Amino acid sequence: MAKRKLRSTHWFAGEGKDAFNHRSWMKNQGLPHHLFDGRPVIGICNSWSELTPCNAHFRKIAEHVKRGVYEAGGFPLEFPTMSLGETLMRPTTMLFRNLMSMDVEESIRANPLDAVVLLAGCDKTTPAQLMGAASVDLPTLMISGGPMLNGRFRDETIGSGTHVWKFSEMVRAGEMSMADFTAAESCMSRSAGHCMTMGTASTMASMVEALGIGMPGNAAIPAVDSRRYVLAHMAGRRIVEMVKEDLRMSKILTRKAFENAIRVNAAIGGSTNAVPHLLAIAGRVGVPLKLEDFDELGARVPLLVDLMPSGRFLMEDFFYAGGLPAVIRELGDLIHKDALVVNGRTMGENTADAPCWNREVIRTLAKPLKKNAGIAVLRGNLAPDGCVIKPSAATPRLLKHKGRAVVFSSIEDFKARIDDPKLDIDENCVMVLQGCGPKGYPGFPEVGNLPLPTKVLKKGITDMVRISDARMSGTAYGAVVLHVAPESAAGGPLALVRDGDMIELDVARRKLALLVSADELARRRAAWKPPKQEYDRGWARLYVDHVQQADKGCDLDFLVGKSGSYVPRESH
Ligand code: FES
Repeated sequence: MAKRKLRSTHWFAGEGKDAFNHRSWMKNQGLPHHLFDGRPVIGICNSWSELTPCNAHFRKIAEHVKRGVYEAGGFPLEFPTMSLGETLMRPTTMLFRNLMSMDVEESIRANPLDAVVLLAGCDKTTPAQLMGAASVDLPTLMISGGPMLNGRFRDETIGSGTHVWKFSEMVRAGEMSMADFTAAESCMSRSAGHCMTMGTASTMASMVEALGIGMPGNAAIPAVDSRRYVLAHMAGRRIVEMVKEDLRMSKILTRKAFENAIRVNAAIGGSTNAVPHLLAIAGRVGVPLKLEDFDELGARVPLLVDLMPSGRFLMEDFFYAGGLPAVIRELGDLIHKDALVVNGRTMGENTADAPCWNREVIRTLAKPLKKNAGIAVLRGNLAPDGCVIKPSAATPRLLKHKGRAVVFSSIEDFKARIDDPKLDIDENCVMVLQGCGPKGYPGFPEVGNLPLPTKVLKKGITDMVRISDARMSGTAYGAVVLHVAPESAAGGPLALVRDGDMIELDVARRKLALLVSADELARRRAAWKPPKQEYDRGWARLYVDHVQQADKGCDLDFLVGKSGSYVPRESH
């Protein structure tokens, strides 16, 4: 370290006016002079917010990181960034993922930081921080906030999101009272932490660990378990060493790391949302990754983890069973064992002896829950640039299905008509939702898992084929085809579907076909007009003008890649 000049010394070293300014104002926080002696300055990038309840305990995690940093001879400085609370933000947090990534990137580069610890939890905060930090490429380590404790409603274990969908459909079908529905609210979210199903937050926390950018064990330790704070403390110690080793993010986030993440995502039954997020992170760090990689690498990986929404258990059970290290060990040769992890060891070294304590929760390769669990990438004349389905979350008989389209032009149109007794729909129809892609909504919302019509639910039917250019909550389930690209608002063929058209889904053959002649589609295309753009200013305008399609990860075109960690010029 002595040979390499740290970034922070450009601010804090020296005897001139500028160094005086930089140190003097910092000292108003009670920081003693010796902290400016050239020791590594560690930024703690905190997405804490009371409007992001999943991240509301992060000030405490940051304190434990600081203890570790001080202990190892570093100088920790915590700073806030934009935070994205999945449950409250409108129209959808995904509209702001790239904005938060810009905040993270510029906050890191503009400040006297030699390394960064990222604190993320709720769905979009994880990819946003990784994307922003990757575009700077300092030594970086992420700590996830940890899942909530298991939900418990009377004698039933209930999972975040998954049971919201289940209970709300039971209310609509007349199987649950409103009083019980309301009572379940307090029973589902009963501790600090993020969703404790294998939804998007748990999936992305697992991706952090599988990518090697988080400490071993990062994904599953519950938010309120004291071991989460021990992990934060140890991460604080480790990031100081990473500065000495110049272990930059790009040395961790290699192609092998992404391949590991894709395979782990399949084995854990992870969210489809991992697809655009991993594509976007890879784009920032310069790793070539394409939509088909998820199918080619992951589709034949067996499902090993029995967690909701696909299975029975929750993240707390997963932690007690051994967590992600046990899964990675079980995956054996499917994992690149030589991939480097932030703790300075390889993935193989970290997981070689990882125990599994519960084979109900984490299965073996020999006896998986399902043989082929990964995300399937479909193409066809309805999705020329691809779309995805999570077969493990779908009713098997619907994975090959031909049905009559019932088309909704927007989510509002869907809500207005889905329970209209006059709507001509039954369980064999294919529900098609338009206008919910990255540009169209705008922001690519999680509305693809359309609730079934009440008249179908009342027959005891729980799944139908649904197709859209939207995303789906990681806590949802069903025969749901998502991320259709190009989206309808960009003129994709999804915009041309009409009521009564026949649609064929064949997951085994990776096909999604609109059974309408090319001539008829050409006539419809000639008559199609792009939707009127409602946003003429501000972030939403910038976003709509520059967001890429789902198959590219929905980053803004001008944000792909990195600018690095150069020290910007001084202006005082
Ligand atoms: Fe924050 Fe699910 S709402 S993780």
